[in-house]
Amino acid sequence: MISVSVVKELQQVLGPIRAENKTIGFVATMGALHEGHQSLMKQAKQTCDILIVSIFVNPLQFGPNEDFDSYPRQLEQDKKITKSAGCDVLFHPKELDVYPDGPTQTIHVNQGASVLCGKSRPGHFDGVATVVLKLLSIVRPHKAFFGQKDAQQLAILKQLSKEFFLPVQIIGCPTVREKDGLAKSSRNMRLTRNERELAPKLYQALQEAADLSVYNVNELIAYVTTELQRIPVGEIDYVEAYEYPSLKPIQQPVGTVILALAYHFSDARLIDHILINYN
Ligand code: PAJ
Repeated sequence: MISVSVVKELQQVLGPIRAENKTIGFVATMGALHEGHQSLMKQAKQTCDILIVSIFVNPLQFGPNEDFDSYPRQLEQDKKITKSAGCDVLFHPKELDVYPDGPTQTIHVNQGASVLCGKSRPGHFDGVATVVLKLLSIVRPHKAFFGQKDAQQLAILKQLSKEFFLPVQIIGCPTVREKDGLAKSSRNMRLTRNERELAPKLYQALQEAADLSVYNVNELIAYVTTELQRIPVGEIDYVEAYEYPSLKPIQQPVGTVILALAYHFSDARLIDHILINYN
């Protein structure tokens, strides 16, 4: 595995690969890698000749009171994980490499960015879209793999690629969960032992709501809210439902609906969702 931190160096490495017409698969991450990230790498490895992984904790997608400073950083451990996942090139740029002039130009996401996580994290998806556009421009992969875990992010990035005619295929990969159902996340390591025991209730509530086979989404939201209120620690950020992937308000329950939540534990805000198909 080649490990580079400078854009020019990465492009020198990628030149011959492109000349050989190899398919390039790309997985963008913020590090603190776990099996969720590894599953994206595995899928990329299976369908592409070359796997490029980026690790960059993007300041632009964190709000002023969010966890940018405390976001877990563990490059040496992550290097071992990417290497064992078959990564060919690891790109771990510094902030100045990605924003050499500061963020003088940014993407503004108009649709789907003011609901769910966008409501409680204003500007978050502008930051995500901006850095992903930069990373895709630097790496120029044929395929880029993102987790369904961050369903809103995936929907927005698919739309980004479509709207800007980016020559890349955006591929969504299934959410990887712990045995007890908790979605794997870099932020799980910040749960207390008690919170870790309670955290599976987030997905359980979503599953139970989906199993109710109720067509009224307000009832589903009320069910999940009541279940989350039973958790003795932490507090609800939101429980909401929208059409998916458009993230528009639900007109009538046909097609796919995303029932999603965000929950604040003492030092970790976790998100999860379930997709419900109404035919
Ligand atoms: P990060 O949270 O590190 O996630 C990197 C990728 O891994 C995302 O596509 C995310 O959806 C996926 N992922 C995380 N947990 C997963 C799980 N349990 N199962 C499946 N996939 C999972 O998302 C970001 O970083 C950033 O916003 C980024 C896209 C890198 C832009 O900065």
